[in-house]
Amino acid sequence: MNFENILVEKNNGTARITINRPNKLNALNKATIKELNVAFGALEDNKSVKSIIITGSGDKAFVAGADISEFAHFSVDEGGELSRLGQTILFDYIENLSTPVIAAINGFALGGGLELAMACHFRIASDNAKMGLPEVSLGVIPGYGGTQRLPQLVGKGKAMELIMTAGMIAAEEAKDWGLVNHVTTQEELLPLAEKLASKINRNSSLAIGAAIRAVNANFEDGVNGFDTEIEEFGECFGTKDFKEGTTAFLEKRKPNFPGN
Ligand code: COA
Repeated sequence: MNFENILVEKNNGTARITINRPNKLNALNKATIKELNVAFGALEDNKSVKSIIITGSGDKAFVAGADISEFAHFSVDEGGELSRLGQTILFDYIENLSTPVIAAINGFALGGGLELAMACHFRIASDNAKMGLPEVSLGVIPGYGGTQRLPQLVGKGKAMELIMTAGMIAAEEAKDWGLVNHVTTQEELLPLAEKLASKINRNSSLAIGAAIRAVNANFEDGVNGFDTEIEEFGECFGTKDFKEGTTAFLEKRKPNFPGN
């Protein structure tokens, strides 16, 4: 895969996507969003890829937001379309992948950058990271799912405060809030992401995909998450992964999941 704005590498079942516009603090322009959609789609289809890490290039930013220079002149219709398209092809898309995605937040994660991290299945951060949704300081609101996912992750009051003040929180505070799971030094960030990914890779990818669908069901309008869990749980019993996992346990050996 050849891209202009992102780098994609694969190593031992884990793929790493690096957003690579360091001179613009990795701001998400339209081209980058499209490339991310293509890259995530190809990695989801590649059965040898069991987990994905996404990070930003350079030591300053994960992603400093949507590219302001691209939408500053937009009309009402164009603004709505920007949000709808981005949510569909990237943010909701990532959240609903069967392949787990870890955001490794290596610096500023602002606006669309924090929204991107929040669309991932979980987040870790380096100690220089700063997170916020500063859109109201530009006269707009978060449009890539931020008003929905931030309250889901940290609760309504904290989300309201962060959005209304257009403030930034540091990595340790984000950990206290439950927004990120771990904080490390900058040097240790990607090794930790790889370590978590390799733990994930040992398990059944089919079961992990089912778990993602069941957890996400709790946040879908009109869907009963318990019913989704029952359905997904039952489906697991028809997989070779389930046969292998239970047989390996009973035979006191490590499972070797076929992924079907
Ligand atoms: N969109 C477009 N360009 C951006 C950008 C964004 N969201 N964030 C940073 N950049 C660009 C800057 O314009 C600058 O480009 P230039 O060198 O061609 O002028 C370059 O990235 C470096 O940013 P700069 O502002 O000089 O770095 P800084 O260290 O002084 O400040 C930030 C860092 C993150 C505080 C600042 O860049 C910022 O506030 N960015 C916008 C954050 C934001 O509002 N995001 C939400 C967008 S909806």
